Amino acid sequence: MVKPKVVVTRKQFTEEMERLSKVSNLVIIDTPTPPTSKELKEQIKGATALFAHINDNVSSEIMDAAGQSLKIIAEFGVGYDNVDVNAASERNIAVANTPGVLTETTASFAFTLIQSAARRIAECDRYVRNGKWKFFEPLDLLGYDLSSSTLGIIGFGRIGSYLGKIASNNNMKVIYYNRSTPTETYGAEKVDSLNQLLEKSDIVSIHCPYTAETKNLIAKKELSIMKNNATLINTARGPIVNLDDLYEALSKNRIAYAALDVTDPEPIKKDHPILKLENLTIVPHIASATVETRKKMSKMTVDNIIEGLNSSVPTYCVNTEKIHW
Ligand code: DGY
Repeated sequence: MVKPKVVVTRKQFTEEMERLSKVSNLVIIDTPTPPTSKELKEQIKGATALFAHINDNVSSEIMDAAGQSLKIIAEFGVGYDNVDVNAASERNIAVANTPGVLTETTASFAFTLIQSAARRIAECDRYVRNGKWKFFEPLDLLGYDLSSSTLGIIGFGRIGSYLGKIASNNNMKVIYYNRSTPTETYGAEKVDSLNQLLEKSDIVSIHCPYTAETKNLIAKKELSIMKNNATLINTARGPIVNLDDLYEALSKNRIAYAALDVTDPEPIKKDHPILKLENLTIVPHIASATVETRKKMSKMTVDNIIEGLNSSVPTYCVNTEKIHW
């Protein structure tokens, strides 16, 4: 029997690829750069499943290039804003993701950024490398204690609420803005509006999904509402924050600091002026990047595909109600 074709758009963990190759005709695109849309259209022809990554714009055109055979799009990640889910549903294609396995790692990383912003780690590292460390300085490079700070969390789902738990354990006051009230809030207080959260927080951390509604959620007006000594953390998705407005706010000290794991576009353009600022820490979309977590994500993505190949709706399907299998 001919095995179904499965396309994986980046190099992945060998053991998971071996597992997948036993049940499929596997095509791994392991070029150093992610495939362009044109390349992906070529590769995906006749595929039954796509193992996709955040860089892949999985549009209706990509789906149509695959043809009638395409049944599963399995995203390596919890966020799947790079996949046109409506187009997939219209074509009876299941879209699956990897919720849960990266919650702790991603939330802990957001807290790492919060701590390193408070203690000016990136700036201190540059200070030493640039030969500025001459003496012990009693009054220089001072940070602040988190226990006297209020953390405002936008989006109190799995990752946001886990960050709330870590922050509460570190004696921070935690407030959150979320449409619904979760069952477990770890002592965090709900605020009624985004503006209230921005006004009250010393640190604002973003954990909502990227949708049409959250594009530019934090732009000029919102940045002007934040406290002058506030820090903005974004480990969610780049387009939620308007990067040019953030540059403006940081360079004019409208807010004190930002730490970004994600930008719009990704990667950020090498000549973006924000990269010249001292009051910014920026890292390349690594919040879930531990060996353990990335292995779990890879396994879950493969599990989703194998379930689909066996004609069961994948356990972590995000459009179950819209497809008819
Ligand atoms: C996620 O899981 O959404 C990460 O950001 C990787 O895309």
